[in-house]
Amino acid sequence: MTIRFDGQVAIVTGAGNGLGRAHALAFAARGAKVVVNDLGGARDGTGASSAAAQAVVEEIKAGGGEAMANGADVTNYAQVEAMVAEAKAAWGRVDILVNNAGILRDKTFVKGSLDDFRVVLEVHLMGSINCTKAVWETMREQQYGRIVMTSSSSGLYGNFGQTNYGTAKMGVVGAMNTLKLEGEKYNVRINALAPTAATRMTEELFPADQLELMGPEQVTPGVLFLCSENAPNGEILCAGAGCFARTRIVETQGVFLGSNASPEAVAEAWDGAISDETGARALRQGMEQPAKFGKMVAAALKG
Ligand code: NAI
Repeated sequence: MTIRFDGQVAIVTGAGNGLGRAHALAFAARGAKVVVNDLGGARDGTGASSAAAQAVVEEIKAGGGEAMANGADVTNYAQVEAMVAEAKAAWGRVDILVNNAGILRDKTFVKGSLDDFRVVLEVHLMGSINCTKAVWETMREQQYGRIVMTSSSSGLYGNFGQTNYGTAKMGVVGAMNTLKLEGEKYNVRINALAPTAATRMTEELFPADQLELMGPEQVTPGVLFLCSENAPNGEILCAGAGCFARTRIVETQGVFLGSNASPEAVAEAWDGAISDETGARALRQGMEQPAKFGKMVAAALKG
């Protein structure tokens, strides 16, 4: 089935460059009215300019689409609220939010400052929370909403020199894990994206020939799927260079080592029954873990 967004309103943060720009153009090309948000600062988050967002809006309009530029700083809740109010005043609703805005302050943990750490958390984590909070009630009332959190392999798996960034990127997954439960009955679905693409953020990381294969527009189809009517809820989609994969956090079945298990018993079982992946699965919510343990204890005591 063709995925279209006619009559829908999409907000894409950090859409003046890179991935956000590609997402915004694609939403507009498939019928959405798009808020192109961008603070327009440098890669480390310093400075501001409306030029980048405005250029993307012009591009959308030139292609026959509808868009508005917005310069809200996602770390500023009042500005984010005003952005959502402006979108609703112009177009009446907000169906889609792609939390994409981001900055980099890479340093090893030993060299990085706590101030840089806080700034990176503010933009990626609190920026995503601010925007999500600002649309949440509207989406619940509409009984429709699709939200994407932009995560990263750096958060999911780690990356040398990116403690601040990785912490923020796993933080948005944590938020998603609970919001998927709270939004479910209102048809508000939220998913995470772990992209890889050639942008100003990664230009020094990959060799030139690889960068050519990794355009942001090759990630965008994944975002459109996550914002479509039939989107999943609470999943992590990895995308880059036309490749797509799914990350899941799984828990092994585990083992009951007794009510008075010793640390030595845990050490001994670590490579064996604790780590045995037979029957490992992703839990849908936290309470499934104590429920599982309760069953294991009951079974062991009965047997
Ligand atoms: P980019 O630097 O080209 O785009 C990020 C945009 O966010 C910029 O236009 C910037 O002005 C905007 N922005 C920054 N702070 C903002 C704020 N406070 N308020 C509003 N806008 C703000 O970078 P890229 O690569 O397109 O990154 C997009 C997202 O994807 C980021 O969240 C990034 O962490 C994530 N990501 C990118 C990867 C890649 O391979 N390019 C890998 C993993 C994640």
